[in-house]
Amino acid sequence: MKEQLNSIKDQAEKELSGITSIQELENIRVKYLGKKGELTSVLRGMGALSAEERPIIGQLANEVRSFLEEKLEAAKNELVSKERTARLEKEVIDVTIPGKVKALGKKHPLSIVLDEIKDVFIGMGYEIAEGPEVELDYYNFEALNIPKNHPARDVQDTFYINENMVLRTQTSPVQVRVMEQKKPPIKIICPGRVYRSDAVDATHSPVFHQVEGLVVDKGVTMGDLIGTLQVFAKSLFGENTKIRLRPHHFPFTEPSAEVDVSCWTCGGNGCRVCKGEGWIEILGAGMVHPKVLENCGIDPEVYSGFAFGLGVERTAMGRFNIDDLRLLYENDIRFLKQF
Ligand code: PHE
Repeated sequence: MKEQLNSIKDQAEKELSGITSIQELENIRVKYLGKKGELTSVLRGMGALSAEERPIIGQLANEVRSFLEEKLEAAKNELVSKERTARLEKEVIDVTIPGKVKALGKKHPLSIVLDEIKDVFIGMGYEIAEGPEVELDYYNFEALNIPKNHPARDVQDTFYINENMVLRTQTSPVQVRVMEQKKPPIKIICPGRVYRSDAVDATHSPVFHQVEGLVVDKGVTMGDLIGTLQVFAKSLFGENTKIRLRPHHFPFTEPSAEVDVSCWTCGGNGCRVCKGEGWIEILGAGMVHPKVLENCGIDPEVYSGFAFGLGVERTAMGRFNIDDLRLLYENDIRFLKQF
């Protein structure tokens, strides 16, 4: 029995030394220490031993068992650590390999400028209003005091859907829609697309963008309009920017003005960008015409207001020194990448 135990020990040790997987290790454990294992069956046979032999063999059997258990444990640890090392080696990352760069999109220059404009006016407490691009003649013209024979109503200038419906030629109809819905105080801007039957060239497009502004309350004056536009011009074109109002005519404002900003390139001295003028026109504005207030059910004896309509393309062209409007619509990545 002694020899049997010793040979189990040697045999098991030999087998363990050659294993490469946890499964093999487990097989060996079962083979020797399992319920039907070799060591177990030797122990079972101990009943047949004499009283002197039994403790000696018993002790030896226990030694062999702990020896095997230790060896199994050590072999297992070694296997686990080998496996871990192998896995780490396999998963090793070379941080010096250049990454795969994902091309990120960016904001269109028109959106950049539009966001800047919104920020300025939201900062002054304005809300954003919206209106439809397919608009009733009533809102686009009639309610804005634009008479039937006004040239803007000509098919040469306006896209008609039918007799009563047009693609809005300006964002001003939103003034009327807002004033119909809401009583003063009103303080809104409305950014949006407008349409005019123009041929495409460096400064014209049949689709472009405006931002309408409208403030109506008690005691609103032209001074408020000028102050507001000054804040706007400085925020967009720089602290030193000045504005200039030239008398003009819009049927829905009285008095009306065209508003210029001092040239963003030369600062007012005259250059190629401002065609030697020193000034660049960017918006139309004025005090809301009493008839327009009346058309919306607001009493012009109690309330007054100012409105303005600003060209987004023109502003973007100024902000970024873009000399051809068409660049804004052609989706040429080489152009768009620059912003
Ligand atoms: N709607 C005018 C235009 O498109 C601009 C404007 C808006 C003028 C509001 C005065 C007041 O030219």
